[in-house]
Amino acid sequence: MNYTIREFVESDAESVSEMLRESFEWFHKGDHESWLWKSFAPSNLINFSKTQDILVAVDDKGEIVGYISSTTTLYGVAYVPTVAVRNSLRRMGIGKLLLDEKIRRFREQGIRKMWLLVTHINTSAIEFYRKNDFVIEGYLRDHTGPGYDEVLLSRFL
Ligand SMILES: CC(C)(COP(=O)(O)OP(=O)(O)OC[C@H]1O[C@@H](n2cnc3c(N)ncnc32)[C@H](O)[C@@H]1OP(=O)(O)O)[C@@H](O)C(=O)NCCC(=O)NCCS
Repeated sequence: MNYTIREFVESDAESVSEMLRESFEWFHKGDHESWLWKSFAPSNLINFSKTQDILVAVDDKGEIVGYISSTTTLYGVAYVPTVAVRNSLRRMGIGKLLLDEKIRRFREQGIRKMWLLVTHINTSAIEFYRKNDFVIEGYLRDHTGPGYDEVLLSRFL
């Protein structure tokens, strides 16, 4: 299967919502009242797309398999709120494909640094970013919820 990266369009919202809710089950645990479950509602994803630059990974059939979002600043630093790959397609290089395309676009825009937060128990994502040259720059306790510390990782481009 080949995977390609393209910009998010509003008609992706339903399938992206389903994929993100599946990808972050470890965080919201199926609780539809959780802030994260709500934040991935299709209407919110459409709202995000008005202020964030969102890329999706699609397979040969056009199915959504991955997602990466970002915002940039005038001082050359980008923030990446969310990266996800469909559960059944992990460790196949799709996460790196999304990250590399985002970095390519950042460099074109003159962005010199990117940063993001990863929940401390999300060891697979921490491994993923460390493998991709991110370093730990901070630690935020009880940040996205009680008992959910966030590790601040960054990378100079
Ligand atoms: C983090 C995430 C996006 C990585 O996507 P992925 O497509 O599986 O990553 P890749 O296949 O490109 O992995 C690249 C490298 O990262 C490292 N890596 C990725 N997942 C890993 C894991 N579970 N354990 C250890 N290392 C891992 C490996 O070095 C891997 O290379 P290798 O497979 O050749 O050893 C994916 O695990 C995910 O969607 N997680 C749930 C959502 C999430 O927590 N997002 C991050 C917070 S915003």
